[in-house]
Amino acid sequence: MRILAINGSPRKDGNTAKLLKEITKDHVDVDLDYFDLNDLKVKDCQACYFCKKNDACAIKDDMQLLYKKLREADALVLGAPVFFGVETANTRAFIDRLYALLAFGDGPGKYVPRLKGGKLAISFVSCRNGKGKEVYANIKDRQFAMWSNLGFKNVHTYVIAGATPQGNILELVDAQDMVNQCQKLLEG
Ligand SMILES: Cc1cc2nc3c(=O)[nH]c(=O)nc-3n(C[C@H](O)[C@H](O)[C@H](O)COP(=O)(O)O)c2cc1C
Repeated sequence: MRILAINGSPRKDGNTAKLLKEITKDHVDVDLDYFDLNDLKVKDCQACYFCKKNDACAIKDDMQLLYKKLREADALVLGAPVFFGVETANTRAFIDRLYALLAFGDGPGKYVPRLKGGKLAISFVSCRNGKGKEVYANIKDRQFAMWSNLGFKNVHTYVIAGATPQGNILELVDAQDMVNQCQKLLEG
């Protein structure tokens, strides 16, 4: 199993990183690539539509490495904090650049995914708001639809609420449940 784990928080040991590390630790026969988006240069999608005429993105930045890792991976695990109601800006940039993994389909709004192999997608956001599961349900649903549209076959999305910057996110019951579920998913 090849896993691509991506931390969309600027904090390398923050809530998102703790969850990502817990989910991906101690798996046997796993080849893990772990990236902090904050260390990478991933420019915003320029809407040039080069990717609709070519199976590639025209922007030559660190996203090229992430495309390669994503093509090779069996599973993607993406975590991000909620900043002002949405994923962090670098996570948004990463997500927008995934548009290059879609070819135009037959008719408006129709796309054909270029990713192969029935990959697993796990993504989560964490937020301070104790009611975040309801308030940010839109993020969970949007991410679910996005991974499905991109051709992932096994998709799991989560919101972990009540995650304060100083607290231990691993003590939250919802976080523990998510970690257990994801560990099982990654064990196949
Ligand atoms: C700039 C900024 C904006 C934030 N906006 C929200 C928000 O809109 N809703 C929320 O519930 N939490 C918000 N938070 C809290 C974080 O989402 C939360 O503590 C998260 O778990 C932090 O993850 P990290 O430690 O991986 O960075 C915000 C934090 C920061 C720094």
